[in-house]
Amino acid sequence: MGRPISISSFATAEARLKALLNRRRPGFSLEADFYTDPDIYALELRRVVYRNWTLAGHVSEWRVPGDYRSVAVAAESAIVLRGTDGRLRAFANVCRHRGSRICLDEAGRADALTCPYHGWRYATDGQLTHARDMPDDFDRTPYGLKPLPLAEVHGLVFVAFADAPPLTAARDALAEPMRWFGFEDLEVAARRRYAIPANWKLAIENYQECYHCATAHAEYAARHTLMLAPRRRARVQQGMQSRLVAAGLEDLAVDRIDTRAPAGQTGFGYSRTALFDGYLTGSRDGKPVAPLLGKLAGYDGGASDFSFGGCNFLLAYSDHVVAYVFTPVDQHNAALSVLWLVKRGAEAGRDYDEAGLTWLWDRTTEQDIEIICNNARGLHSQHYEPGPLSTMERALAEWLEWYLAELTGDGRA
Ligand code: FES
Ligand SMILES: [Fe+2]
Repeated sequence: MGRPISISSFATAEARLKALLNRRRPGFSLEADFYTDPDIYALELRRVVYRNWTLAGHVSEWRVPGDYRSVAVAAESAIVLRGTDGRLRAFANVCRHRGSRICLDEAGRADALTCPYHGWRYATDGQLTHARDMPDDFDRTPYGLKPLPLAEVHGLVFVAFADAPPLTAARDALAEPMRWFGFEDLEVAARRRYAIPANWKLAIENYQECYHCATAHAEYAARHTLMLAPRRRARVQQGMQSRLVAAGLEDLAVDRIDTRAPAGQTGFGYSRTALFDGYLTGSRDGKPVAPLLGKLAGYDGGASDFSFGGCNFLLAYSDHVVAYVFTPVDQHNAALSVLWLVKRGAEAGRDYDEAGLTWLWDRTTEQDIEIICNNARGLHSQHYEPGPLSTMERALAEWLEWYLAELTGDGRA
């Protein structure tokens, strides 16, 4: 998995992909081969996954020089590290001696990075500083860690494993809504990694639609209005819109998630959706769970969806933000990192209770994992064939088109 694809299997995969696309019916789910064919998986890693930004975390997680996090995506791993010069950088987590992983922990703090295999040592700017028992004339200069693309968007830190389309359009267009919620001044209150034994696309596809919400998510469905029929939803939405300005928000024309990229850029999205009356935020009893974010003056009873590229989704309530980052582990396993973010300086036990903060999306995620796995099981049957999408799966249909455009190279500028 994840090894460079050979020329011959590359040609075969291309031919197979072409055949699959020729018989593709837009508005239908994908054929099973997109989830089961190892050559297509190798192709999508190179063309879609590695050149798509992955949210590594919030800038507050690299507070002081030496703070690092490792980020795993399929066969790759990145070290995101704050240097002693204060700069945040990303490197391939691959030793330049014989290729061992260097950082084995998810996060930590270090003055230097030492490979656990033979002890080669790297400075926090990636330079190789120590390699014992090498010939006298050994020049360490060309053996620094390989840098990876890194981008910061109003406090969110993204990493990629190949040239990813810039996030500058997202940074500009989302500057205002991200300011309302004080994204630069958040901090991570909780972070969990969920294993999903299914192809990564099934996990994201499930996140793209709320067709399943009424049947799968009793707790979510009692609070969120995404699954309501349009007329009823419009009424609730109007109620929220009448409270927006007093709460310190504004109505934005960007009203839906859109992963299609502006030319040469990473796609993004923003929308705000009302919660049911009586719910100020995504909590068990509808009451606040943390201090109001940013400069918000009150609760409008809504939640904002943000998206960055095809794999990173954030939901901003008025008093906390939940981030969902989907990554493949291998062809049949994915991981979902969920981050709960609160206003900087908020203290656990005093300003928020971690169990109360995480209750809704921990519960909803567990339910999602179960239905995603059922989906994966059915897809492996010889009786599976692509089925028609509902009107409530419009965002999913768009996500599939985005994925196919990236996979075939049509999505590139
Ligand atoms: S592989 Fe890292 S020091 Fe040998
Ligand atoms: Fe769900």
